[in-house]
Parts: sequence; C-alpha cells; structure tokens
Amino acid sequence: MILVTSDTHSCYDYINKQIEYAEGVLCLSIACVVHLGDFGIFRTDLYDFFNKQKKRFSRPVYFIEGNHEDFDALPWLTKKYKEHFTHLSRGSVHSLAGYKFLCLGGAAYMDSMITQRAAIISERHINECLSIEPEHVDIILTHDCPVGIGVPNSPGLEHYGQTGFPRSDELAEHFRPKLWLFGHHHKWFEYRDGQTTYYGLPEIWKGFGLLDGNYQFKMVEHPLQKPEKETSLIDRFLIKLKIINR
Ligand SMILES: [Fe+2]
Repeated sequence: MILVTSDTHSCYDYINKQIEYAEGVLCLSIACVVHLGDFGIFRTDLYDFFNKQKKRFSRPVYFIEGNHEDFDALPWLTKKYKEHFTHLSRGSVHSLAGYKFLCLGGAAYMDSMITQRAAIISERHINECLSIEPEHVDIILTHDCPVGIGVPNSPGLEHYGQTGFPRSDELAEHFRPKLWLFGHHHKWFEYRDGQTTYYGLPEIWKGFGLLDGNYQFKMVEHPLQKPEKETSLIDRFLIKLKIINR
C-alpha cells in the first residue's frame, strides 16, 4: 500500500504521524510515501528536522515539488538529503510498487508573491511529458490540478480564474490514465471523466490517500492539530527577495 499525501509545508513530522495512524490504527502495511508537493524544501527546516532533531522518516518518501520550495536550493538539498527522501523530477516516469508514475511538479502561474518563476510548469515540461508513450504511464502525479475538472478556487482566490495548469488537458487526452493525483488546492476533491479518476488531496494534517495494488484509491480523513509554524506569506516574500533563507 502506498500512502499518498501533499502540502506538508515543512511540517515533516506529520508524515510519520500519518504513517503511524495507517499502520497502527488501520493495520495497513505502508510500503512508501508519495508526496504531491509543497514538501517544504528549505535549508533551515530540513537541517532542523534531520540534523538537529535527528529525526527520520519511518518509510521511504518520494516527492514531486510544489510551488512553495526553495527552487534555487532544491538541486543540492535533494542531493544532500537523498538518504531521507527522493525527488521525482518533472517529466520523468518512476516505477514504484508496480506502478509507472508520470511526475510533474510545479504549478500554474498565480502571482509573483505565490509563484516563483521556477515553479511554473513550462511548455518544455509539457512537451517532454507528451514525448512519452502512453503505455509507459499508469498514473499521473502533479502538484497543481488539471484544467476543466471543476476544482473550486479557495475563498478569496477567485480572481486567479479557473484552476489548473495550461495544456494539462493535452496530457489527459494523450495518456488517459486510470488515476491522476494532485495537491496544491488544500481540499479533498474527486472527479471521474471517462476512464480517468482525479483525486485532490488537502494539507497533510487533514488526512491522506491510500493506493493499493489494483488502482483502488481511498481518501482517509484523519485530522491532526494544525501546525503553528507554516511558512507564512511574508516569509515566502522575503525568501523570494533573498532577505531570509529558510
Ligand atoms: Fe501549492
């Protein structure tokens, strides 16, 4: 069983807490964790968790990037902490637990406060994905949602327009996957279109998904106390300006 989660925003402890719940309370065996972005790739947060507190994830963790990571530092931080988690890069296909996952981190542009330049899914990334034969992909993993499936904007964010990233409809048409999993919008979401079922996941402290070996995906609501420390909007702005480095 794969535990699927998203939007940790540097609160890495919740990964172990949800694994503990899945194994200890639901009595499941978790092979690994697939994380759908906004993991929180920030130097001081990672250093604090792995080096200072000497904590470890209890199962192997694989992640795609979201829009809230330190993109300048992402290559060397994923290398430095490679024994603790594995980055699944954009446009790549990874075999895990018998599935072939097409990985496409990043997000559509929202505004300069929320979306760093490197976070934006580009034409090149879409073209790289489309160059892969459909039979080489079982499940699509993205941080942002596809367009046209009706994911509502969060209250107050309606001015960003329709949710989803450009040309995602081409990916849906090309691959016609059985499953497409995403995060980013901080809400539970389910939608079926033809042979594809789309699932959206909220922040990790609200719950997680479970993927068995037969394309069955189940959403598990398991609310935990919301963290006090999340990277704030102002912090993100300062990171962007390189005034602070988290
Ligand atoms: Fe996000």
